[in-house]
Amino acid sequence: MPNIEWSKLGFGFSDVNCHIRYTWKDGAWGAPEFVKEPYITMHIGASCLHYGQECFEGMKAFRQENGKVVIFRPDENAKRMYRTAERCVMPPVPVEMFIEAAEKVVAANIEYVPPYGTGGSLYLRPLLIGTGPQIGVAPAKEYTFMIMVMPVGAYYKGGLKPVRAVILDDWDRAAPHGMGDVKVGGNYAASLFAHEKAKREGWPVELYLDAKEHKYVEEFSTSNFLGIKADGTYVTPDSHSVLPSVTNMSLKQCAADLGWKVECRKVPYEEIKEFAEVAACGTAVVVTPVWEITRGSEVIKISDPDTVGPHLQKLYDTVQGIQYGRLPDTHGWCHEVRV
Ligand code: COI
Repeated sequence: MPNIEWSKLGFGFSDVNCHIRYTWKDGAWGAPEFVKEPYITMHIGASCLHYGQECFEGMKAFRQENGKVVIFRPDENAKRMYRTAERCVMPPVPVEMFIEAAEKVVAANIEYVPPYGTGGSLYLRPLLIGTGPQIGVAPAKEYTFMIMVMPVGAYYKGGLKPVRAVILDDWDRAAPHGMGDVKVGGNYAASLFAHEKAKREGWPVELYLDAKEHKYVEEFSTSNFLGIKADGTYVTPDSHSVLPSVTNMSLKQCAADLGWKVECRKVPYEEIKEFAEVAACGTAVVVTPVWEITRGSEVIKISDPDTVGPHLQKLYDTVQGIQYGRLPDTHGWCHEVRV
């Protein structure tokens, strides 16, 4: 076992045994390579460097109570990366190849999957980039698909501790017919300036409204938005420019299984004050309660800074319970890695 203080892990890079890498050339994907060094060498004209031909994913592997190691819903991340690749005119990674790559890279780094009970997981970051030189604007002729892994803890300090969010109307994340619904680095690049400003001014995360009218809630820079009404209804925005989050999809299912009403629809900004609980949800942040949202001089207080609402606590316990094997996996979401 590596010498890691598992329960002190945050969300950051650390060295592991290797990443897995495939190259696409002459119309086909090659065989996997396990690469020890966390570096890649590429042509200075690579299309990912000039024209942003790049996309990525985020998923997690968990060491369960019974000792098994599972990856959470890799098929859904594979399908999302397939759609993203098509949108970026890159050769999609077949779903089976994506899942096999995930299994292989977790198996090759198995000792970095945090022990059960420490609250950690192994984060998988699949990456697909255009590595062929391309100076006229066009798709490249060569691509690289990789999955890097690293053990992680909570994304925001304190785990399930509520955070404050801010809406900064001077910056948008994604245009109505842009690429907000796929996972490209450009969406995160678009948010970095506002993200750093928000953090400097005391808000760990910013919330975006729709870019056309600034009337409807879209998503946080790092994750989807969900609100819970006083009667327990789960509400989440439906928009072409929101990333379809695998965690949100799973939480909606958990909420429905618990007998709660689930609504996926436009969420006007004014409705925020009607929510009894609000959270950011995603692979990295899991379910992070948001206790206050500021927009200009308006401050919407949703809950106390130290209180996690009962519905969010239940959702968190349910999804983490399935991931760590404490609750039955009735939907077959946990994909076992055999070593
Ligand atoms: C994830 O949740 O896995 C993501 O890719 C979001 C990223 C901002 C950490």
